Amino acid sequence: MPALVRPDLAYMASYVDALHEGYARDSLRPESPELIAQITREPEWFVRLVNNPPTTIVLPDASLGERVPETELWWVEDDRFLGSVGVRHRLNDLLEAWGGHIGYSVRPSARGQGHATAMLAAMLDHIREHLSLDRVTLTVNSNNPASMRVIEKNGGVFRDEIPHPWIEGDTGRRYWIDLR
Ligand SMILES: CC(C)(COP(=O)(O)OP(=O)(O)OC[C@H]1O[C@@H](n2cnc3c(N)ncnc32)[C@H](O)[C@@H]1OP(=O)(O)O)[C@@H](O)C(=O)NCCC(=O)NCCS
Repeated sequence: MPALVRPDLAYMASYVDALHEGYARDSLRPESPELIAQITREPEWFVRLVNNPPTTIVLPDASLGERVPETELWWVEDDRFLGSVGVRHRLNDLLEAWGGHIGYSVRPSARGQGHATAMLAAMLDHIREHLSLDRVTLTVNSNNPASMRVIEKNGGVFRDEIPHPWIEGDTGRRYWIDLR
């Protein structure tokens, strides 16, 4: 049975395979060949980075923004990496408008098997246990029906449709999920 775990060196061989398959943590920003090469060379560094994220982030428009505290967990079965899910412990104005509390991604070869739905459910349990959030916000691009379905299957309530802050002409949908 798959489980949600802290990122660990034990899964890095499979993680690198997933990167070569086209897995990326952020659907807006595919991992570059240079970063994939560095992760392959220095898996310890990468695991440390994921478990201790920096406090600033380069935004899609290349400006430097605040990176709010975040926990990333991995969805694994035995030593196979299947996907990742991250939770932001709080939102800033930017994330309230787009980004929300939770982001997730499943490696291409494991999609369509219910992993994102189960991984999000497990993350909601993790938040109930470890964070003091009563409600989480999730945003999804309007051209991503699979992700909308994943959110709705986890009790997501449609909030509103919003323009995408970085992609001209794109729209997204905001949802909330009550946790208590
Ligand atoms: C979106 C994503 C996470 C889904 O992962 P997954 O493991 O395939 O999702 P699941 O198998 O749990 O569920 C997908 C659901 O969407 C449905 N679905 C898939 N493609 C669909 C489509 N084109 N239209 C409508 N529904 C669709 C599936 O039928 C399934 O619903 P069901 O269980 O009721 O049949 C995965 O495609 C991914 O990682 N994409 C890239 C990153 C990304 O987009 N992350 C989300 C950002 S908000």
